Amino acid sequence: MKGVILHGGHGTRLRPLTHTGPKQLLTIGNKPMSKYALDDLVEAGITDIAMIIGDVYPEKVKEYYGDGAKFGAKITYIYQEKPGGIAQAINLCKEFVGNDKFVVYLGDNILKGGIKEYASTFNSSSADALILLCEVDDPSRFGIATVKDDRIERIVEKPKNADSNLAVIGIYFLTPDIFSIIDVLKPSGRGELEITEALQNLMRNGKRIEYDYVTGWWKDTGTPQDILDANRFMLDEVKRQIDGQVDSENSIQGRVAIGSNTKVASGATIRGPAVVGTGCKIEAGVYIGPYTSIGNNVVIRKGELENCIIMDSCEIEASGRLVDSIIGAGSKILDAHAMSPRGHRFLLGERSQVML
Ligand code: TTP
Repeated sequence: MKGVILHGGHGTRLRPLTHTGPKQLLTIGNKPMSKYALDDLVEAGITDIAMIIGDVYPEKVKEYYGDGAKFGAKITYIYQEKPGGIAQAINLCKEFVGNDKFVVYLGDNILKGGIKEYASTFNSSSADALILLCEVDDPSRFGIATVKDDRIERIVEKPKNADSNLAVIGIYFLTPDIFSIIDVLKPSGRGELEITEALQNLMRNGKRIEYDYVTGWWKDTGTPQDILDANRFMLDEVKRQIDGQVDSENSIQGRVAIGSNTKVASGATIRGPAVVGTGCKIEAGVYIGPYTSIGNNVVIRKGELENCIIMDSCEIEASGRLVDSIIGAGSKILDAHAMSPRGHRFLLGERSQVML
C-alpha cells in the first residue's frame, strides 16, 4: 500500500500563522501536525509516500522532510498549483499510485492510535474504499455519512441540516478506481473537487465502501481553537523526561518533558503536562502551567503561561499571565512597564489578534 499526505490548501482560518508557512508545519506538542500523519503511515508499514505541496511556502515542507530517509520513508513531492480541492489533489497522484491500494492522509488531521489496524483491514479486504467515521458536535463543518443497515447510505459535504453526526475523517483508504470517478467530477459550489462527492459517486457506480468507527480521539486542526485542543490531547500522553539542565528539582512538577541544552533556573516552575524543546532558557520566577508546549530556542524571562503553544525562537518577558495563546515562531512579547510614555506597544502583521 502507498501513502499520500495532503500538505497544500489555503489555511485561511489559521492566518496570520499561515502567512509564513503551511499550516501542516505548525507544531502541536512540539511536533509538526503532518509529522503525526507521516509517523502513522510509517508505523503501518507504508513508507512509499507522496506529499502534495501547494503554494504556501512549499520549500519549507521539503526542507523539513527532505527525501524522507531520516523519518524512515521515501517521499515523492507532487506540486498542486492551486488548492482545487482534496479530490483534485488526490487525482495528481495517479502515476505515483499505479495499481496499488493507497491511503490519503490529510496533513492537518491527527488520530490517536494511528492507522495500523485499519490499513491491515483494508489490505486484506475486497472493498473499493474504507472510510473512518467519528461523532462530531457540529456536522455542518464536515463531510457527513449516513449509515443504514450497516451500510453507508450517503455522504454529504458540510450539510446545513444534517441527519447524522458521523464525520468522515480525513484519512481515506482507496484503490485506483477513484481516479476515473474524479476525472469526471464537477467543481462544487465553493469551486473545489470534493472527496465526499467522489466517494458518493463511487457508491453510485456500484462500488463498495467499508467503514469503521474511530476509537480514540480525532482532530481536524483547521482553526486556532482546534490547535489548542489537539495540543491538550497530545500533552495528555506526554511522559516525564528531563534531558536539559534543571537547577532545582522542585521546579518540575508532574509529566514534563524538557529537551537537551535547555536551562531551567532555580525559582522557575513548570507544571505538567507540558513540553519544553531544546536550547531554551527559562528564568527564575517564570511559571509554565499545564497544557503548554514551548518550542526550541525559546527564552522566557518573565511571565506565567497556561494552555499555550509558543513556537521556536520566541522571547517572552510578560508582566501578566498568558492563557489559550498560540505564538508563532520568532515572536517577541516584551515588558513595556518601565518605558515612557506608558502604554502597550505593538508591531503586528496582517490579521494578528491581541486580547488585552
Ligand atoms: P481544508 O482545511 O479543507 O482547507 P484549507 O487548508 O485550504 O484551509 P482553510 O479552509 O482554512 O482555508 O483542507 C484540508 C486538508 O487538505 C489540509 O491538510 C489541506 C489539504 N488540501 C490540499 O492539500 N489541497 C487542496 O486543494 C485543499 C482544498 C486542501
